[in-house]
Amino acid sequence: YEKKLLELKSKIKSFPDFPKPGILFWDIFSAISDGPTCKLLQSLLVQTVKAKFPEVEAVIGLESRGFLFSFALAAELGIGCLPVRKKGKLPGEVVSYKYELEYGTDVLELQKNTIRPGLKCLIVDDLIATGGSITAATQLLKSSGADVIGCLLVIELTSLQGRHNIPKGIPVHSLIKYD
Ligand code: PRP
Ligand code: MG
Repeated sequence: YEKKLLELKSKIKSFPDFPKPGILFWDIFSAISDGPTCKLLQSLLVQTVKAKFPEVEAVIGLESRGFLFSFALAAELGIGCLPVRKKGKLPGEVVSYKYELEYGTDVLELQKNTIRPGLKCLIVDDLIATGGSITAATQLLKSSGADVIGCLLVIELTSLQGRHNIPKGIPVHSLIKYD
């Protein structure tokens, strides 16, 4: 498992000053453009969920890069794959959650009919930076009656301390860490 993690880490490229000066962008697509690395990442995610979150009943993917991993996991585990999207993208009745950004506000949505009270949900995304996206998704899920059992990220940017912003009691697990 540790060896596979190191191999995955070696495949993820970073791009300085993207999308803005001063930002170092960790590009998950650089890893999955390679077939064997797709398989490797898929197996690491599945193995991690089976070990850390065996009770999971639905995987929640955060728009948009989170969708890659939520479907891969849900298909392998044979459980539901539910999207959390930006406002106005999902048809039917939705549950919404409005949250503050550095400048202005944003709204996340979830399809109401996909959630039942107590549904054990695992939030999946490519990366945690400030933790803002995961925190907002957690609040949205809780307000819809779901039970958030944890969060799984491929990459964690540890220096931003995003995991400390996630509501207490929700385990956060990342495969790879960068400063
Ligand atoms: C990026 C990344 C995470 C989020 C992490 O998504 O994919 O979802 O930011 O940042 P945070 O921990 O500070 O919230 P982005 O909003 O760039 O959109 P994308 O997934 O559609 O590329
Ligand atoms: Mg994203």
